[in-house]
Amino acid sequence: MENFRIGKDASLNLRMGITYSDDQTPKEGHPTSAKDGQSLIDQVIAATGPKAHPRLAQIMPSLVRHLHEFAREVNLTVPEWKAAVDMLNECGQISNDRRNETQLLCDILGLESLVDEITSNLLASSHAGTPSAVLGPFYRHNAPLLPNGSSIVKNLTPETPWFSQAIADSAYITGRVLSTDGRPIPGAIVDTWLAAPNGLYEQQDESQTDMNLRGRFKTDQDGRFAFYALRPTSYPIPFDGPAGRFLTLLDRNPNRPGHIHFVVSALRHRALTTQIFDSRDKYLTEDAVFAVKDELVVKFLPRKGDSKARWYLEYDFVLSKED
Ligand code: BEZ
Ligand code: FE
Repeated sequence: MENFRIGKDASLNLRMGITYSDDQTPKEGHPTSAKDGQSLIDQVIAATGPKAHPRLAQIMPSLVRHLHEFAREVNLTVPEWKAAVDMLNECGQISNDRRNETQLLCDILGLESLVDEITSNLLASSHAGTPSAVLGPFYRHNAPLLPNGSSIVKNLTPETPWFSQAIADSAYITGRVLSTDGRPIPGAIVDTWLAAPNGLYEQQDESQTDMNLRGRFKTDQDGRFAFYALRPTSYPIPFDGPAGRFLTLLDRNPNRPGHIHFVVSALRHRALTTQIFDSRDKYLTEDAVFAVKDELVVKFLPRKGDSKARWYLEYDFVLSKED
């Protein structure tokens, strides 16, 4: 059973696929240990009690049905199920306040993107705001609140391994936060974060200063925010855990296209979690976590006469009003 684990040797695991002899193969419609003629699915669903949490009582029958039907459809074996349980356990074990492997696993299955889309459709009003995109596992609360016009690039020196790329990609990013009626929103908070040119977020990389490439900015009277940052770099999602091994077993691209994350919030408006994607990126059409939307692809323009930035981006965020 141990050999069947989604282990570090992907090819070994692929070769470990179990084959059935005919008499072991569960048959289509194979009778379960039926109680009073009930199928196993019905028994599990019927076990929910009258005091169950209402939302769970509503959704669990569907989950149980899909789960059982999936297991039957693919003839899921005990070693295969155990491998999945072990993988989920390992996801939990290596997760902490700097790493969220279970969320990463959901991301590579497209689940965070799907629930993000469902949630924003449910909340959508007639005037749509900027599209949302997944939060991802690297958000940190309490990024420094900085004055507009300051830089989120910390301690960049010629000794920094990615110094030349940071200079080549230095960017001034500005825009407004607007309400769906077109009015600017003063006092909105623009919380932003991105990976360094080595493809790592600061909490993944000992060599970066705490909170490097993160900041929060408050919009001025015209609803405007502005800061210095970098054009984003594509990066592979963390590969040293079960989610990475799963991608290897699936022979999948692990890269995310270069992007900058934002959570934009303002009084009486719905907070927007989103990302903008650099139009130059070669992975735009094969994001490992399926988050790219056309409206979020942006074009950086060359910036002249600013020693602190070679590129310029103007991008407005539109927030929908709370009901
Ligand atoms: C991110 O963009 O930070 C991210 C999102 C989903 C999975 C991994 C990383
Ligand atoms: Fe990211």
